[in-house]
Amino acid sequence: MVNGESTFLKLVVSHRNAFKAHAFRATRGILMVIKRALITGITGQDGPYLAQLLLNKGYRVFGTYRRVSTPNFWRLQQLGIVNRVTLIPADLGDMASLLEAVTISNPDEIYNLAAQSFVGNSFDQPLLTTDIDASGATRFLEIIRHLNKKIKFYQASTSELFGASIENPQHEKTDMLPNSPYAAAKLHSFHMVRIYRESYGMFACNGILFNHESPLRGLEFVTRKISNSVARIKLGLQSELRLGNIYAYRDWGFAPDYVYAMWRMMQQPKADDFVIATGESHSVAEFVEEAFSHVGLDWKKYVVTDQRLHRPLDVHQLCGSPKKATAAFGWKPKVTFKQLVKIMVDADFDRWQQYIAGKSFPWDAPNYSHEMDILSRNVVRDAQKEAAKKPKKTVTQKILQVLNGNARV
Ligand code: NAP
Ligand code: GDD
Repeated sequence: MVNGESTFLKLVVSHRNAFKAHAFRATRGILMVIKRALITGITGQDGPYLAQLLLNKGYRVFGTYRRVSTPNFWRLQQLGIVNRVTLIPADLGDMASLLEAVTISNPDEIYNLAAQSFVGNSFDQPLLTTDIDASGATRFLEIIRHLNKKIKFYQASTSELFGASIENPQHEKTDMLPNSPYAAAKLHSFHMVRIYRESYGMFACNGILFNHESPLRGLEFVTRKISNSVARIKLGLQSELRLGNIYAYRDWGFAPDYVYAMWRMMQQPKADDFVIATGESHSVAEFVEEAFSHVGLDWKKYVVTDQRLHRPLDVHQLCGSPKKATAAFGWKPKVTFKQLVKIMVDADFDRWQQYIAGKSFPWDAPNYSHEMDILSRNVVRDAQKEAAKKPKKTVTQKILQVLNGNARV
């Protein structure tokens, strides 16, 4: 039992009473027709787009955020909605805070988007990833089961579940063969959602979303790393782009199209699981080529591949079939691959141009560390290999050299 889970049952009794009183108040008067949604991970890429969609539909939107020493609301600021959502501090590892968040927000719908979502990092932090991405969803399912089974639950499941599957395109019935600690944790959540749905009749659904990107994407993900670097290279702020496996294929769509699918899933008469994808797959190299050619540059002059950016195990190809979602609620992607690349490169180019002109605005890139300064397992492993080749230096000395910051590439 971690972080207050042992006191869960005691807490639930007191919260259930508070919740009933709150719910009673909330069902009187005008609040009766205003839907309430709780979004976890509101500071990430998808959270703000979903919040914007729900606000436009007249929802009262609550969002959870983690207490951190430096506030991280730049995406909500960019969309101009930071003052239109109600923020609640909560961590997916902390059951008590999740219970508080549900009690305070009294939601009709919970969208569980929070996660340690970076696949590469899940190899460095497998236990944390498991706690947050596997048990996080179960914590919510338990809260709903004890508090109010009418609350609808959306789980951010992922195409990474298909991992090593060779079926193409992948759909709801394709074998799930996770290839990372991240995917294994998400597979646990995927099944828990199904199990709670079937055992307790709860409205709990999985959105099996393929990669979706936007100008609000985190800089550690490959598409945004590319768009940001292309903009900087074009403006003379950077000379090269260092990448790992450029022969991986992904089915990339546009995040606002995908959050719309999340909402549609939650409005279905019956809870179910749906694949959301474009049905087209492109390699990282194709994304790179398209991004550089959009600004009139030849990618081969700037791109360097670096073994240290390869994952211990990667997913070779993802390509999804959204047929079930199209048949159930008419969902189709609106933005094409080429349009997506253009939207992302143009957005980063505009940001850096404004930055050069001395303008300051909410945005992540200027504060982002150089990737090679982050001592992930791969960088240390590489230092160990180097040290082994040079007998004059011991492995320990070489690692110390890396830790002292002399190992930049
Ligand atoms: P993201 O940009 O990485 O955002 C993740 C969010 O989760 C952030 O708000 C983060 O907060 C929060 N978070 C992380 N650890 C947490 C914890 N312990 N407690 C509470 N909050 C925590 O991810 P995204 O692209 O928006 O994706 C949303 C969800 O969809 C994720 O679950 C992801 O795994 C899943 N998914 C994404 C894609 C995709 O292509 N984008 C595809 C399939 C599935 P901080 O801002 O404080 O870090
Ligand atoms: N991040 C990153 N950085 N990836 C690189 C790089 C690099 O420098 N070079 C090559 N790649 C390759 C990765 O090895 C991977 O095969 C592919 O580019 C995409 O990597 P990411 O953009 O990090 O995304 P992801 O596919 O691993 O995961 C994203 O999509 C999943 C859905 O399929 C995340 O959003 C997950 O949270 C999500 O579940």
